[in-house]
Order: sequence, then C-alpha cells, then structure tokens
Amino acid sequence: MNKETLKNWRGTVAVMGVDWGDSGKGRLIDDLASRAHIVARYAGGSNTGHTVKNQYGRFALHIIPSGIFNPKAICLVGRNVAVDAEILVEEMSQLDGSGISYHNLIIDEQASLTMPWHKLRDGLREKRRDQIIGTTGHGVGPTYADRTERVGLLVKDLISKDFKQKIEKEAQFQNEYYKLNLNVRAIYVKYTKLTAKIRKFIGKTIPIIREAKNKGKNILFEGAQGYFLDIDVGTYPFVTSSNPGIVGIWRCFDLHPSEINQVIGITKAYMTRVGEGPMPTKISREVAKHIVEKGKEIGTTTGRTRTPGWLDLVLIKAAVDINKITSLAVTKLDVLTGISPIRICVGYKIDGKDVDYLAHDADFMAKIKPEYIEVAGWQEDISDVRVFERLPKNAQNYIKTIEKIVSVPVKFIAVGPERGQVIWVD
Ligand code: GDP
Ligand code: IMO
Ligand code: MG
Repeated sequence: MNKETLKNWRGTVAVMGVDWGDSGKGRLIDDLASRAHIVARYAGGSNTGHTVKNQYGRFALHIIPSGIFNPKAICLVGRNVAVDAEILVEEMSQLDGSGISYHNLIIDEQASLTMPWHKLRDGLREKRRDQIIGTTGHGVGPTYADRTERVGLLVKDLISKDFKQKIEKEAQFQNEYYKLNLNVRAIYVKYTKLTAKIRKFIGKTIPIIREAKNKGKNILFEGAQGYFLDIDVGTYPFVTSSNPGIVGIWRCFDLHPSEINQVIGITKAYMTRVGEGPMPTKISREVAKHIVEKGKEIGTTTGRTRTPGWLDLVLIKAAVDINKITSLAVTKLDVLTGISPIRICVGYKIDGKDVDYLAHDADFMAKIKPEYIEVAGWQEDISDVRVFERLPKNAQNYIKTIEKIVSVPVKFIAVGPERGQVIWVD
C-alpha cells in the first residue's frame, strides 16, 4: 500500500474515475490544485461536466481544467481532448463573469476540434440506432471518429493561413455527404470570432509537461468520465469514445504510467450512471429516490437524472488493479446518511456460477447477478466532520470495508460539495 500523504502531495498525481463518471473529479482537482504547478486535463471533451464549488462560486467546467482557480498553476488541455470552441468560449465567459483569470491556460494545438457538424451527426446517429446510447449530444463520438479517420480539423487549424479554406471545405463536404444543410459562410464567420478569443491560448503542451517533470514540479492530471465508459474497456457500445484510464495520460502527454507517482481512483460512496447501458448494482425505488434527491443526481452537462447503484467493488477492484491505482477518493459519503443497511457488491455470478473474468461488454454485464454484503448505516449529519475518527463508527466501518476488499487506502473522503468539505486520511 502507498504510504504517501495526499493532502501534501508532490510529484505527479493522476485522478481518474473508477466508475461511470460524475464521481466528483472536478471538486477533488479543486481541492488538490493548491499545490499544483501544472493541472493537465486528458481525455473526453464537452461531454464532461466537472462541478467546482469554492469561494468564487459554483462552476461547471467542460474543457478548462478544474485547477483554473489556482492562478499560479499552468492549466493544460491535452491533445486527446475534443475541443469544442463554442463551449470553451462559454466557459471563458463564465470565468470572466466571476473575475477568475485564465491567463495560464494552454490548449494543445494537436487536439481535435468538435465542430457544429459533429453535434448534428451525434444526434442523427442516435436516432438511427437500434438501442440508443444516450450520448450527451455534444458531438464527441463523431469528433473522435473523424480523428481516427484522419479527416478532422485540429486546434492548430484555427490559426493556420488556410483557416478559411479548411473550415469551408470541410463544412461543404459534411453538407454533401451527410446532407446537413449547414450554412458554410456562417460557420466561418462564427469561428473567426471564436478564434479571436482562443488564439493566444493555443500552444504545445508536451514540452511543458516534460520540462516540469524533469524539474520535479507538481503535476496534477485531471481525467474525464470513468474507467467503465472507456471505448475499449467499458460496456460497449454504451461507452464514450476516449480513454479515461491511466493510458489516456500516456496518449495525451507522452508520459509513461510508470512516471506517475500517485494514481487516485475516484468514486462516490455509491455509483451512478447517466445515459443507457447496464449497471449491475442498480438500486430499487425508495433508496434511489433518497440518493437522487439528497445527492442532487442531475447531470452537470445534460440535466438528465442519473441512475443510482450500490458501490460495486468488483468493478472498482478491476479498475484499481489494471490502472495500478495507489489510493481511492470517496465522495458524497454524506448522501448515504439515513440509509441502513447499505449494500456493497463484492462478487458477480452468472447462471449461479462465480464470474472470474470481466468481459465488460454490455451483453455480458447485463447477465450479471451481483453478490452483496450488507453493513449498518448511520443517521448523524457528517457534513462538518473533518477527522476520520469523528465519523460515526458505521461510516468508518463502511470506508474500512472498501479498503479491505479493494486493497488500497482511502485517502480522501468528501462529505459535502464545497472546497474543503473533506476528510484527508493519511
Ligand atoms: P465529475 O464529473 O466527476 O467532476 O462530477 P460532477 O461534477 O459531474 O458530479 C458530482 C456532483 O456531486 C457535483 O454536483 C458536485 O458538486 C457534487 N459533490 C461532489 N462531492 C460531493 C460530496 O462529497 N457531497 C455532496 N453532497 N455533493 C458532492
Ligand atoms: P464526467 O467527466 C457521466 C456518458 C453519456 C453516455 C455515454 C456516451 O463529467 O464524469 P458521449 O457524449 O460521450 O458520446 O456519451 O457516456 N458520459 C458521461 N457520463 N459523466 C461524464 O463525464 C460522461 N461523459 C460521457 O451519458 O452514456
Ligand atoms: Mg460530471
């Protein structure tokens, strides 16, 4: 087990979801960023919604790293993030409105652009699927598809000499091929305005990471989504189109996983899923209602209600083992107050037999019967607790049970959404 403290972290630390997203990555990054020289976002695009609540207000971030509230940290958006210039400029306006500076933001020139046609294609494709995925509709899948097909526009195209020809040519192609009826001229005009705002933030992120690493600076990697939404690992086809796991950092910043000192897997004290796709530990009505209401389980990006499930330690342990996660962050423990008993999934069965290999795809996951243990809950309000030993005994036991089964320590327990509503367990 890793004995390094998390509150006083140094070196390179990565945060990745071990679930289906929305575990509180934004708030954890905000809590950790005060020590960061660099906060670097990898994977995903504007499908991401990272909520931060701090003394400056409440923010929903999609592309800009959640470390932006530390004015001394350089905030990088890496090359495997799908960058939607419209959303990015909206985020900038959100920060402008609260007087938050983003002068240290750098967006990698090689990142793919999510263009208006990607959003339209996302919607068209969903309508034609036999089973909809319930995408966020933000055009992220088609953006990655075009990158893989080697036809997508990149951030650097915005500032190239042939910007106009590139945008117009591609928009025309989309009209002909996908019959989209795009107003080519209007897109060019719009993107000229967006580029004026973004231009000075475009740069090369990899040399910055390399130099910081060589100088022993503190680098915080901010993942998006969760491991079971990974294009390869997740419950295909009910997944996103990028790599939320640790490999995403390697692909994004040319930094090998062995160069990362601490890998933090983040989960809520329960789980949620938004969009379609199987969830073995889905919770029945009354408890689900309690969690949705108390946990305000409404999507940050799309406003959809998230489906709650009991904590699934089979999945979390798989994510921990494969990504060599060194500690867990557990958020929203306060939301479980008042629920007793609490169930924890510790095994899977199919047709009465133990499952020893997780095939992860949707058909396989849909057949699973979860095996639970039950632990007693607690009634006390824990939102003001800051020391582990002050938690009710049953809450302590819940965390200890997770540690025992997953075999990594829980070093961060969040008991409310605000910056600092945290128990640092060291
Ligand atoms: P992310 O995508 O992983 O950054 O998570 P989201 O921001 O989409 O969703 C997490 C939600 O839970 C946000 O509304 C947060 O403000 C909220 N939240 C985070 N941690 C806690 C916590 O410990 N307690 C409570 N009650 N809310 C939390
Ligand atoms: P953060 O970073 C939760 C889900 C969508 C849908 C599937 C595919 O906030 O945790 P997409 O638009 O990516 O093609 O949708 O993935 N999804 C998320 N769910 N949190 C997210 O991000 C998600 N990003 C995508 O709901 O089921
Ligand atoms: Mg989210």
